Amino acid sequence: MTNISNRISQIPFSSIREIFEEATAMEMNGDAITHMEIGRPDFDTPDHIKEAAIKALKDGHVHYTPNRGIQELTEAIADKLKKENHVTINPEDGVVVSVGCKEAITNTIFAFINPGDEVLVPDPSWLEYQYIVRLAGGIPIPMTLKEEEGFLLNIDDIRNKLSPKTKMMIINSPHNPTGSVLPEENLREIAQVAMDHDLLVLSDEIYEKLIYDDARHVSIASLPGMFERTIIINGFSKAYAMDGWRLGYAAGPRSLIQSILKMHQYNTSSATSFAQYGAVEAYNGTQEPVGEMVRAFDLRRKLLIDRLSAMPNVSCVVPKGAFYVFPSFRGINMTSKDLAKKILREAHIACVPGSAFGNAGEGYIRMAYSSGYEQIEQAMDRLEKVMKDIFSKAV
Ligand SMILES: Cc1ncc(COP(=O)(O)O)c(C=O)c1O
Repeated sequence: MTNISNRISQIPFSSIREIFEEATAMEMNGDAITHMEIGRPDFDTPDHIKEAAIKALKDGHVHYTPNRGIQELTEAIADKLKKENHVTINPEDGVVVSVGCKEAITNTIFAFINPGDEVLVPDPSWLEYQYIVRLAGGIPIPMTLKEEEGFLLNIDDIRNKLSPKTKMMIINSPHNPTGSVLPEENLREIAQVAMDHDLLVLSDEIYEKLIYDDARHVSIASLPGMFERTIIINGFSKAYAMDGWRLGYAAGPRSLIQSILKMHQYNTSSATSFAQYGAVEAYNGTQEPVGEMVRAFDLRRKLLIDRLSAMPNVSCVVPKGAFYVFPSFRGINMTSKDLAKKILREAHIACVPGSAFGNAGEGYIRMAYSSGYEQIEQAMDRLEKVMKDIFSKAV
């Protein structure tokens, strides 16, 4: 008999998997599918970064590294945080390099959350947050994001959700799945709540460099009084197209980072040695490939907004960051899961139902613009036909 732990049996497999599996089966039957379900860049890792990792391998950097990460990388991260985010950490004890942001988030939650502690989590959001909180025995409390408020955090809603058990707040800007970017005024209000109620803040900034129009990324850790209670999570998966390298980090004051380091020691010991040398080059080398990638994403973003907004019963908040659009299909009498399946079967576009990101995501679909411009253009032609068909049957 297999005795699965209560901890793991309360966690479902990702619902993104269902769409992905059906899309794969369709492809095996010869259908061409446009993949807009996967949250990763379709670009290759820039060559200069690959070269640095190859050199590290050839130079024999094949062993465990210091738990926190190699000195060159912790220093590069400290320099980057100072220059770009106006946050000063000590490279010797203010950062832990991990196997992706996901490990950094897991380490952070396990380091601070006791069974029964409440953690404020945006709804919709990347679902991993709430499942990792649950795995640690904590209770995720949704902070509802609304389309009519541009998917920003609503301070009154947050104040209503606070209780004596609230220990941590998770924020993610630019945001997956809506693409919203929290403006500095909103961050200042959030900071005030965190200080008034003595909360820790986990600030997931993985999409910070994928930002458009007049939006500006501000790290909440840079606001007065916030450094001591904030853990910055960032990494290399998105901006440098290094998702397969599995590298991220948690950064902040020593008082918080020490406990994250302890968890990391028992979890993975250290991130992959030669990959860390690539990450040093990602931060210290030319940023031109990042700029090129952002320009390409921006063209696709504009295309998607124009096309979706022109379709019947579809509305779309203009995303200012990340590489997702989160259109609403509210006039349609169908769950977002059924709609995603219909879009897959009839328009041959794989995308994710909004309900996969929390209850507040029902009625929406997440589309990642990590496919080429022409592919997206053709996919939108097919989607338009499906939407017109649904709409003509509805009236
Ligand atoms: C908001 C958010 N944070 C973190 C991650 C994971 O990052 P990593 O690849 O560094 O584990 C993702 C991946 O999709 C994400 O969307």
